[in-house]
Amino acid sequence: MSAHRALARINVAAIERNCARLRRELRPGVQLCAVVKADGYGHGAPASARAALAGGATWLAVAGGEEALELRSAGVGEAQLLVMGALTPSELGHAIAARADVVAWHERDLEALSRAGGGRVHVKLDSGMGRLGTRDPAEASRLLAAARDTPGVRPVGAMTHFATADEADDEAFFAAQLRLFARWAREAKAAQPNLVLHAANSAAVLRDPDAHFDMVRCGIAIYGMDPFGEDPSTRALEPALELSSYVAEVKRCAAGESAGYGRRFIAERDTHLGVLPIGYGDGWRRGLTNNADVLIAARRYPLVGTVSMDNITVDLGAEDGAERLRGEPAILIGRQGDERITAEEVARRLATINYEVTCALTPRVRRAYHRDGEPIEAPAGDEQPLAALHAEPLAGPGGERASEAAALPRDTGSS
Ligand SMILES: Cc1ncc(COP(=O)(O)O)c(C=O)c1O
Repeated sequence: MSAHRALARINVAAIERNCARLRRELRPGVQLCAVVKADGYGHGAPASARAALAGGATWLAVAGGEEALELRSAGVGEAQLLVMGALTPSELGHAIAARADVVAWHERDLEALSRAGGGRVHVKLDSGMGRLGTRDPAEASRLLAAARDTPGVRPVGAMTHFATADEADDEAFFAAQLRLFARWAREAKAAQPNLVLHAANSAAVLRDPDAHFDMVRCGIAIYGMDPFGEDPSTRALEPALELSSYVAEVKRCAAGESAGYGRRFIAERDTHLGVLPIGYGDGWRRGLTNNADVLIAARRYPLVGTVSMDNITVDLGAEDGAERLRGEPAILIGRQGDERITAEEVARRLATINYEVTCALTPRVRRAYHRDGEPIEAPAGDEQPLAALHAEPLAGPGGERASEAAALPRDTGSS
């Protein structure tokens, strides 16, 4: 048996195809920078980066210096790296060691870079996000000029970040940010023609070609999740991640008996509970208590009771055949038969965004990489060599698997 208690299977071919699909939105010559921070939004940064490069990305972006070093040491060799976040002196050292570009919005950033050995810099205008960057276009222009005169420092980019590109009902703020950046960036490029201008995240790429400039920085869409929180297939995006566990135990639950901490599920009639060894310690959040579905043998079953650190329970219904589900794989995000659970569905239940659903998956969740179903070995430098984990479900007590046996009637019971 090779079922695993908490397994994220990542299809690198889907990431490649999503990148190729995004590139088709871009004018010739516009570059795709794949954002692989936060361990590739939970998908694994090195494997995601390699897939994105194979799909046509030419740059990679991360938030911190250590993330850049991790990519380099994982053998993501020649790609241009951009570290987008604020950097402590030691993180700046890591970024420089990784031969990554960094972002500046203050004179002191240029001085720090120069003191640390120098490198390439992108100046950031805060056109409305209200986080990193200078709000003052004149100051941003001064910085670009100063960068040229700072020993060891080379200005190579001018950038901003949109606050509302993914807010479908906002037009005015996005347009105002775009106007402000476009005016400043064009002047900056007139003064320094080699600058790479970049502003768009995934939502802005899909929303407005005028936001594309010389390069776009896409994260969420390369993983096949929808930046607007809708069904990814409506924008021809292909989710790359499947999250699974398995039915470790099936037990009878009589009417009036409960499951889990706090007795938040009390059976209204006799039923069966399936116990899946995955919980909030794996990033399957407690807010999903009585508030998620799971796919087992190609059917939806409701998660019932409290999500605990290591386990969840699902209501498998009253039929005797429920016993045969012991050992079956259980899909928490992904597809089984005609059923599908997206990260967007999970996000809606949690009143959050799809980004947070996959970023929340903890290191305890094993990552296994494949290409349209063909297991691939993780190269040295990736944490988890995992071809072996492509789950063949556990056999049931009679040796058979329920997915091979007659399908059970769905009975979602008293959730
Ligand atoms: C500065 C910056 N650029 C680009 C991105 C990518 O955004 P998205 O994942 O929405 O494409 C992010 C992600 O948060 C970001 O912080």
